[in-house]
Amino acid sequence: MIKGAVVVRITVLFGSPRPDGFTAALLREFLTDYPDAEVTRFDAYELNLLPCVACDRCREDGRCAFRDADDLFAACETCDLLVLASPVYNYGFPSPMKAVLDRAQPWYHRNFERGEADPARKGVLLLTAGRSGKYAFELMEKQFRVFCRELGVTFAETRARPGTDQF
Ligand SMILES: Cc1cc2nc3c(=O)[nH]c(=O)nc-3n(C[C@H](O)[C@H](O)[C@H](O)COP(=O)(O)O)c2cc1C
Repeated sequence: MIKGAVVVRITVLFGSPRPDGFTAALLREFLTDYPDAEVTRFDAYELNLLPCVACDRCREDGRCAFRDADDLFAACETCDLLVLASPVYNYGFPSPMKAVLDRAQPWYHRNFERGEADPARKGVLLLTAGRSGKYAFELMEKQFRVFCRELGVTFAETRARPGTDQF
């Protein structure tokens, strides 16, 4: 359980292409702590968001030029707990999940400088890696902390499962 969080709505961003892999198992295990929560899940590989093209429209009016991430970001803005679950690919997020992070640019312009996060809304990062992953985990946590700050969520913790290559 995440300390200090009343969790009714969970938004999950899932970043593995393998529906029954190690990341799915870690997520399943995490969610057993919240049997009564309403879970809304977005699979980055299924969504396959268009990448940010740096058109700067969001700098002008705070809106993205593309509409394919509207539901995802609405769910990120209204949840009590934001969970990003992903494998490590080359020390970072798999490219469809990296596209999700980059598409938060409108929220960067709206929120980041203000830096106000709601202490009641928490963000959790779940990671799996074939090897030790320590450096990758640090790097990915930094990216997730920015994402949380953009969405007004308070980063709570990273739970990592390294060494999946052994199984
Ligand atoms: C393209 C690719 C890149 C990967 N890069 C890394 C890496 O940099 N470091 C690491 O420890 N594991 C790496 N792995 C291994 C995965 O992180 C690991 O197998 C993970 O647990 C897979 O999760 P899944 O079962 O949910 O797909 C990589 C795997 C793939 C397919």
